Amino acid sequence: MSVRYTINLSCASKDCNREFEKKDLYVCDYCFGPLEAKYDYEKIKDDLSIDKIVSREKNMWRYKELLPLDGPPTVGFDVGYTPFIKAKNLAKELGVKELYIKNDGVNHPSLSFKDRVVSVALSKAKELGFKTVGCASTGNLANSVSAQAAAAGLESFIFIPSNLEESKIIGTSIYGSNVIAVNGNYDEVNRLCTEILGNHNWGFVNINLRAYYSEGSKTVGYEIIEQLGWKAPKHIVVCMASGSLLTKIYKSVKEFENLGFVEANGTKIYGVQAEGCSPISTAVKNNWETFKPVKPNTIVKSLAIGNPADGINAINLLTSIDSYAEDATDDEIIEAMVLLAETEGIFTETAGGVTLAGAKKLIESGRIPNDESIVLVITGNGLKTQEPLVNKISKPFIIEPRMESFNKIFN
Ligand SMILES: Cc1ncc(COP(=O)(O)O)c(C=O)c1O
Ligand SMILES: [Zn+2]
Repeated sequence: MSVRYTINLSCASKDCNREFEKKDLYVCDYCFGPLEAKYDYEKIKDDLSIDKIVSREKNMWRYKELLPLDGPPTVGFDVGYTPFIKAKNLAKELGVKELYIKNDGVNHPSLSFKDRVVSVALSKAKELGFKTVGCASTGNLANSVSAQAAAAGLESFIFIPSNLEESKIIGTSIYGSNVIAVNGNYDEVNRLCTEILGNHNWGFVNINLRAYYSEGSKTVGYEIIEQLGWKAPKHIVVCMASGSLLTKIYKSVKEFENLGFVEANGTKIYGVQAEGCSPISTAVKNNWETFKPVKPNTIVKSLAIGNPADGINAINLLTSIDSYAEDATDDEIIEAMVLLAETEGIFTETAGGVTLAGAKKLIESGRIPNDESIVLVITGNGLKTQEPLVNKISKPFIIEPRMESFNKIFN
């Protein structure tokens, strides 16, 4: 891309809007709010059309004008365009008319929506000249940064809480990254990484490259609209950790409306958290303007962020569109993982269980009407979080290698 569609970075805090250069800056030095990429939408309108998008390869870069690079993308050509499924069996179970699942649990290369944000962040890291990248992660980001950095020929430093699921640790170390397991929770890991950045000229995807990284989540929303036949759904349900994904999916819907790619449909988005780590949903439910940081205590390690970076923006968004947030207990989350598997054949991780368990409550309470289109965003893969299911689901029948042994059980 020789034409530049990203103008600069601007502060995303309500009523601040200060502007910054397109560098590895991540926080407004006036109000400490998160920074966000700002685009020249007039230019995008002139250059981008539905026909153009449709003619491109089926990956997240088909929307590249709406992603914050100044040059062509260099990382992640097989990321995105994940399955969009009409979930008839689950719809019946939940008593709703029109239900879809956006399944990012099978994203490439690391089986979560994080592959999208990392593709943008590493492309930007290369553009800015970083040779070393890294992240503070609750697991899925670790998997994706280490995988994509390996493929992109970048050195990586990955910081995780030491108590993560085994699959998430092995699924990071396999790529040859420098993996540092910290005896602390994610918020402590993140704080340490911010300090480390003071001494090293590295590109940490979710810290000093966060303004670019977070934009990658918009492609979930673009794809939902495209895969629905260029229609916006009425309701989208998504789980929250930092709250970034939620705000960016909503932004993507608004962008497509403003570009005239889709008719406005009054789309509402809802955020769900695990009860053991629910600073954002608690604030929304209590009508608070801000959240109280918490110490996470839940099986959902991928969403265990007690001090969410985009929490205030998520609260502002949900209240400004008169939407709502929910939370779910660990048992409800496991029940929802099993329900999704048994009805739609999709094995999601604990975070996907949060989304479905919350959606169920929002439907039962009537906040989401049962006769309107609903999309559940399933963000991660169940093969990575098997521990909480041990002794919670049925065990195999154990038999001897003889007919009578089989017949004893099934005849
Ligand atoms: C599987 C999964 N889903 C959702 C999220 C939430 O993302 P966000 O921090 O953008 O709210 C995460 C965050 O790590 C995740 O790993
Ligand atoms: Zn600001």
